[in-house]
Amino acid sequence: MTRLRTVYRCTGCATVVPKWVGRCASCGEWNALVEEVEEVTPRAAARSATPMALPEAARPVPITTLDPLGAPPRSTGIAELDRVLGGGLVPGSVTLVGGEPGIGKSTLLLQSLIAMAATGSVCLLVSAEESAAQVRARARRLGILPASLLLHSETALPHILAGIEAAAPSMCVIDSIQSVFDPEVASSAGSVLQVRECAAALTRVAKQREMACMLVGHVTKDGALAGPRVLEHLVDTVLAFEGERHHSLRLLRAAKHRFGPTGELGLFEMSDAGLIGVDDPAGLLLGDRRTGVPGSVVVPAMEGRRPLLVEVQALISSSTLSMPRRSAQGLDGGRLSLLLAVLDRRVGLRLRGADVYVSAVGGVRVAEPASDLAVALALASAAHDRALPPDLVACGEVGLGGELRQVHQTQRRLAEAARLGFGRAVVPLSVPDGPPGMGLLRAPTLAKAVRLALGGDLGAPAIEQDRVSPSAVLP
Ligand code: TYD
Ligand code: MG
Repeated sequence: MTRLRTVYRCTGCATVVPKWVGRCASCGEWNALVEEVEEVTPRAAARSATPMALPEAARPVPITTLDPLGAPPRSTGIAELDRVLGGGLVPGSVTLVGGEPGIGKSTLLLQSLIAMAATGSVCLLVSAEESAAQVRARARRLGILPASLLLHSETALPHILAGIEAAAPSMCVIDSIQSVFDPEVASSAGSVLQVRECAAALTRVAKQREMACMLVGHVTKDGALAGPRVLEHLVDTVLAFEGERHHSLRLLRAAKHRFGPTGELGLFEMSDAGLIGVDDPAGLLLGDRRTGVPGSVVVPAMEGRRPLLVEVQALISSSTLSMPRRSAQGLDGGRLSLLLAVLDRRVGLRLRGADVYVSAVGGVRVAEPASDLAVALALASAAHDRALPPDLVACGEVGLGGELRQVHQTQRRLAEAARLGFGRAVVPLSVPDGPPGMGLLRAPTLAKAVRLALGGDLGAPAIEQDRVSPSAVLP
């Protein structure tokens, strides 16, 4: 006999507790517990421990008898998506695509479905959020529609499974998993239990039918998949689609991938005709760069295994606030504070009474320590109101002692900078020779790097220092 009981499940980490509390004891999230009704099953220990007879096909097999390659991936028809997936989608695999609302998940997957269906395979889009007419209207902007692309506007899991059975697609997209519900599960659509049960059912069907399945999942502001972390364990691949809402650049990364490495980065530009793959991001990121402006430094950053040249800008103005402003856009705020402290103590550049703004241009986020040197040089350049040479890049980590440290893949970074026409690089002392055509300005410390990049006889910074309150100055 089954009994029902009420429990509380955390939407952040899926921990179940018998009583409601304001803060999840497991992940520390506030107000994340939701009520759920659960069936109480007889205790596992009470069940018989006699082994059951296994059918021949379900027995363990020697690993050497298995095909090491498995099924080859199939191209998704979108080169940048294939790049991130290591060639394409493996039949029977389940991929979760996460991203903030409006970032372009539906557009990306619809484009991929159109491209795959154009090769003759049957592709199914289950639209649980938008009506068929809305999807049709969007699809019109994305190109010629093949007849083998099928559309099912549905939210109930049994109907969706029946639709998959009837259409027998080789690729199926569920947009989004949070809008699908199973009437058998006593919990509202979007709840952890619903999402997990629906995703598990779809995963079983994908494996059985050898159908590639992509699930769209919304993420919250802080980047976590809304509700179910549990989904990440269930699926084979987790992709994150990111970008700044006000910029057209979109980045696609694999956070988990059972069929290949996760270091690849896919780049897209959102246009009127959907997402366009970006082969050479330099045009997009450095296209509008104005050289000769103080406070601008280019850093060869790495996004996974892909070098990206990003312009870092700094602006410094004297502040009227008792707590001057520190703003970091696309860069790490904590590292900005650290760099300001190092500039203060190790370089003698005092910016305590100034508002400081730094940003990575073009809607990218450069969080790696390799950008330290570029940010510090941009700050020094802005403070002295002196521009850096236009063909100069900077890359290196800044230590608390003011020393410069080499970062991983320095050679790849410099090669990319040389390819794009940069002729000089400020780097830590330990960097060996650069690529042909790239002159290295090696510096052991940040102070030396500032002199190399800006030239000698700097004098006092151009910024007024009169607003520094005496109590804020260390002895
Ligand atoms: P969408 O794919 O609906 O985002 P998501 O599924 O992640 O919520 O994309 C939404 C945005 O993309 C929307 O603001 C309009 C824009 N867009 C274009 O700029 N060009 C296009 O061709 C399409 C289809 C959408
Ligand atoms: Mg959508």
